[in-house]
Amino acid sequence: MAVPLQRPHVVCVLLCCLTTGLSIPDPRQREALIKQEASMQTGGQVVLTDAEQRLDDLLVKMKQEEMAKADFPPSMHFFKARDLIRSSPIFSLLQKMPKGGALHLHDLAIVDVEWLVKNVTYRPHCYMCLTDDRSIRFVFSSQQPKPLLHCSTWMLLEDLRAKMANVTDLDNSIRGNLTLFTDQDPEVAYPSQDVVWKIFEQKFQALWGLVTYVPVFKDYFYQGLSEFYVDNVMYLELRVLLPELYELDGCSYDKAYTLKTYQDVTKQFRANHPDFFGMKVIFTVHRQVNASVMTGVVEEAMKLQKDFPDFMAGFDLVGREDSGKPLWYFRDALSLPADRGVPMPFFFHAGETNLQGTEVDENLLDALLLNTSRIGHGFALPRHPLAKDMSRRRGVALEVCPISNQVMNMVKDLRNHPAAALMSEDHPMVISSDDPGIFGASGLSYDFYIAFVGFGGIRSHVGSLKQLAINSIRYSALSQKQQEEALALWQTKWNKFVSENAF
Ligand SMILES: *[C@@H]1O[C@H](CO)[C@@H](O)[C@H](O)[C@H]1NC(C)=O
Ligand SMILES: *[C@@H]1O[C@H](CO)[C@@H](O)[C@H](O)[C@H]1NC(C)=O
Ligand SMILES: *[C@@H]1O[C@H](CO)[C@@H](O)[C@H](O)[C@H]1NC(C)=O
Ligand SMILES: *[C@@H]1O[C@H](CO)[C@@H](O)[C@H](O)[C@H]1NC(C)=O
Ligand SMILES: *[C@@H]1O[C@H](CO)[C@@H](O)[C@H](O)[C@H]1NC(C)=O
Ligand SMILES: [Zn+2]
Repeated sequence: MAVPLQRPHVVCVLLCCLTTGLSIPDPRQREALIKQEASMQTGGQVVLTDAEQRLDDLLVKMKQEEMAKADFPPSMHFFKARDLIRSSPIFSLLQKMPKGGALHLHDLAIVDVEWLVKNVTYRPHCYMCLTDDRSIRFVFSSQQPKPLLHCSTWMLLEDLRAKMANVTDLDNSIRGNLTLFTDQDPEVAYPSQDVVWKIFEQKFQALWGLVTYVPVFKDYFYQGLSEFYVDNVMYLELRVLLPELYELDGCSYDKAYTLKTYQDVTKQFRANHPDFFGMKVIFTVHRQVNASVMTGVVEEAMKLQKDFPDFMAGFDLVGREDSGKPLWYFRDALSLPADRGVPMPFFFHAGETNLQGTEVDENLLDALLLNTSRIGHGFALPRHPLAKDMSRRRGVALEVCPISNQVMNMVKDLRNHPAAALMSEDHPMVISSDDPGIFGASGLSYDFYIAFVGFGGIRSHVGSLKQLAINSIRYSALSQKQQEEALALWQTKWNKFVSENAF
């Protein structure tokens, strides 16, 4: 899948000796080395058209202006940088740019929470209760729902709002329960990885009942596709827990129904937007389960993969690596498909950790041993030379989600993100946004901005952007034939984008 890196031969080593007897290095040699090094980065070998070159000149000028400012967004926490990014001309351009696919996203976090607050919680039959630890839960029900353990009595939101003169505070508190984004100082609100992960998982619990009511689920997912579509993303691979969806009378459906619903809504979205390429799902389970539960889930995954061969891309484990079980613990269950000769591509999260040398830190090597197709995050990869080499040689791309890594307290200044170095040597990678709704982002452009401006600095150029977009199709789970179709569609969009923005 990946073209191995061609390192151009050093042709000019002798030049320096030919000039003068002085020991000042030869400027022509220096120039050649700088060029050679720049050509090793992601997109470094891309030959630009005249129009692309003009667009690049414009981008370089914009970047220089951006980097000269006192507040450089990639060096700040995203919550403080978001407004600055929104007003950046580079960001506006990136929003318009056809970015290809977003390959690392989670089901319950792809929609801007504003829509959930203003649209979903205003629908009839929406009940809310307040948990002992001041989080909230939702359920839609035609009658007073059964009480939930460790939660207050269910309150009908319609009644609650009717009694209030001003609902702003209530709506703000609901919003606060659905996203990590805050106007407070993020370093005070989320001082450590332990704290931020605990609160992060609470958001998912609050979202769960709100989103899994059948009519809401369909609209929610359609809304998610729309947000990526307007952000010029044409294809998604979505990691899904396949929650059981429910109706107003409390009855619920199985995982196959949820998968079918995803497929139907995707079809409908494509019918309304023919230039959207589509979606595949990666079935996931929380890594907190034990080995026997995992065996059952893998059996289930094999069945779903058989029933939805084109729509389901494969399997993965979710949840915090540091507090969950390592991949190696699940080796028996995860080898079942290979043992039975059933195709089951893996897309493992691995290396989303700062705990070097622990059992969990071996997830990167174990993911590769289990033949993973891509690596989710791979934040720790540069500290594993062998895993890094295997990932490059096998074309196992990293799904780099910069804003997620920063919000989850892995790295403060995004210029120091490990993928910055990987991008300078064209390591196989794609850029994605993980849980944009929970991080106060949307679509893919914010993360592209960080990768382009923060990782690449002045050096990355239009070729880098082009390569990242192409990577997102080449490293996707699409078949060879589908990839060619998707690339052709992307190329048309790209040409239009370049001609409209290069002056
Ligand atoms: C809520 O969203 C649905 C589906 O997107 C839309 O049809 C409806 O008009 C929206 N309602 C409100 C009150 O915004
Ligand atoms: C409602 O409350 C919010 C926040 O407390 C306040 O900013 C807003 O002006 C109030 N709206 C009205 C109509 O009073
Ligand atoms: C969650 O909602 C509850 C109830 O409205 C509120 O007391 C609490 O402050 C909210 N939490 C956040 C983080 O906004
Ligand atoms: C695994 O977890 C399930 C569900 O929590 C539980 O029923 C089962 O007893 C556990 N099995 C073992 C061997 O611990
Ligand atoms: C990984 O691939 C190798 C080589 O094709 C194969 O022997 C092995 O069974 C695979 N392992 C898994 C867990 O898929
Ligand atoms: Zn993830």
